Amino acid sequence: MNTRQLVNAACAAIRAQSPLQPELGLILGSGLGDFCDSLEERTEIPFSAVPGFPLPTVDGHRGAFVLGRSRGRTVLALRGRLHCYEGNTPQQAALPVRVMAALGIKTLILTNAAGGINLDYRPGDLMLLADHINFAGANPLTGPNLEEFGPRFPDMGDIYTRSLREKLRPLAAQAGLPLREGVYIMYGGPSYETPAEIRFFRTIGADAAGMSTVPEAIAARHSGMQVMGVSCITNMAAGILPQPLSHDEVVAAAAQAKGNFTRLLELMIDIG
Ligand code: HPA
Repeated sequence: MNTRQLVNAACAAIRAQSPLQPELGLILGSGLGDFCDSLEERTEIPFSAVPGFPLPTVDGHRGAFVLGRSRGRTVLALRGRLHCYEGNTPQQAALPVRVMAALGIKTLILTNAAGGINLDYRPGDLMLLADHINFAGANPLTGPNLEEFGPRFPDMGDIYTRSLREKLRPLAAQAGLPLREGVYIMYGGPSYETPAEIRFFRTIGADAAGMSTVPEAIAARHSGMQVMGVSCITNMAAGILPQPLSHDEVVAAAAQAKGNFTRLLELMIDIG
C-alpha cells in the first residue's frame, strides 16, 4: 500500500473506534509511553489493526494510537514510534504524523530520550528543542510530493514553533521545572555514537543526540502543523563519562524523570 492508502486506512480505523476529534498529536519516546494511560475516555487502536502499517520492534515501545482527553483537550497519542533503525524508511517513520495531519491535528508534541552532548547537561534534564540537525542522511519528504499535505520545498526556519516555546518557558519556570533549550541531532543508530562523533556533533552546534523525532518534525512542518519537541536527557553521550551506554540505562533514567516530564507535557498540552 502507498502512503495515501495507509493514511486513509489508519484514519478509518481510528474514526471507527472513537467519535473524538483530536486537536493535538503526541509522540512518546523510550520509557515515556506511560503518559497514554493517564488519558481519559481512552481508546487504543494498535498499529496491527491497520493492514500494512509498520509495527515497532524495540523494547519500551508498543505500537498503538491512543485517542483520549487530557486537561480538557482531545489528544491522539502514539504509544511507541517507528524508528528508521528498525528498517523503516523516514517516510514510514513519519506515517503516524501524516495520519495526525489527515485527521486535522494542528499541533504536534514530540518527545524522545537523548544523550547529552552539551557538557552543562545532566541525566534527568529536560531539553526543549530549539532546532535540529538532520544527520540521519535521509528526509521523509523524498519522493513524489504529497501535495494534499504540503508544498514540495517547505520552509524549516521555525520548525519548533518559536511562539510556543516563548509561551512555555515562563510557565515551566513558574511551575519550578528546570528547562534546557538546545539543538537536537538525529543519528541513525541503532549503535550509539562514537566519542569522535559526539565531539564532532558538539563542534557543529548540537546539544543532544537521539535516533528519532527529525522525520516526524519535518513531516509535521510540511503539513503546516505547529511543533514542540522535548528531549529527556537520559545519559551523557558517548565518550563523556567512562561507562558504556545501554538502552536499559536510557529506559531507567526516563522512568526517573517521569514526574517532571509529565508536568512539562501537561503545560505543553495546555498551550498547544
Ligand atoms: N545517543 C543516541 N540516542 C540516545 C542516546 C544517546 O546517547 N540516549 C538515548 N537515546
